[in-house]
Amino acid sequence: MVTIESTRSKLIKLLADAKESYISGQQLSEQLHISRTAIWKHMKELEKDGYVIEAKPKTGYRIKHFSENVSANTLKWGLNTSWLGKEIIHKSTVSSTQLVAHEAARTNAAHGTVIIADEQSSGRGRMDRVWHSKKGKGIWMSVILRPEIPPYMAPQLTLMTATAIADVLDQYDGINPKIKWPNDILIENKKVAGILTEMQAEQDRIQYVVIGMGLNVNQADNELPDAIHYRATSLRKETANEWQIITLVQQILQAMEAQYDTFLKRGFSEIKTKWESYGFRIGEKISYHQGRENKQAIFSGIAADGALLVELANGNKEKIYSAEIDW
Ligand code: BTN
Repeated sequence: MVTIESTRSKLIKLLADAKESYISGQQLSEQLHISRTAIWKHMKELEKDGYVIEAKPKTGYRIKHFSENVSANTLKWGLNTSWLGKEIIHKSTVSSTQLVAHEAARTNAAHGTVIIADEQSSGRGRMDRVWHSKKGKGIWMSVILRPEIPPYMAPQLTLMTATAIADVLDQYDGINPKIKWPNDILIENKKVAGILTEMQAEQDRIQYVVIGMGLNVNQADNELPDAIHYRATSLRKETANEWQIITLVQQILQAMEAQYDTFLKRGFSEIKTKWESYGFRIGEKISYHQGRENKQAIFSGIAADGALLVELANGNKEKIYSAEIDW
């Protein structure tokens, strides 16, 4: 099936490959197997997406300016993945991309479908916390995966995603990301991103997993809500630069696809090593909450299955599957 989206992505690619030269309507219509009127309509839609197209009579079309607006097309163009993000659903406002993703997954959305929004009115984090998702200021995105792994391994996908995001941020000068178990990405001890993994499964089979990611990108200092101000940050705050959301999303999806493929082919051990290289407070004494209980122990790393590994005062090692590490 040829969708409108894929025709439009191909059109952008043809125009981009031509660089400064014009391509005639006739040529485009032959290559895309659609009429010249349809080509013209696609050009108008691309303009709505923020592209600036130059149409020269008797010569053809060329792109004068690539769009910086987030849309399924602008994200797909230049996205170097083979299965992640082949289907992208972009919305300007949603309650939560997690809810849209669950709905899409229930109605058979493919493995690798991405849902992204400019703004969420009810963004949510772990433990039913609010996730502030201001318009255009960050990446509010959920990915649908249909992994053929047993349900008990699903938490490893959270650690894998955190590692992929840390890998992307680590490429940038002056950013030294850390991961606070299991899923917070920190810069200079402040939270810049969080991951929420939700799963629909039977006893021994996963139907689908939704991995939600929130990354604070372009909030200025005064745009981070007061309640979390003392322990939250954004890339802009850390670097004093405005960041390109499209590029970051593409890099995260590329890193995530690569790590997922490694995970399925070779298991969790490479991801574990990488995760530990970013691990926050490994080797240090941490205090953590398990239910109402507050405990202290040395954080030794993560276990082969992704659990938090601690060494208690009596020297015993313990694996912990659910806890909140204090700051
Ligand atoms: C956390 O740190 O508690 C997890 C935060 C996850 C936030 C993201 S933003 C995209 C997706 N939609 C949501 O409502 N939540 C996740």
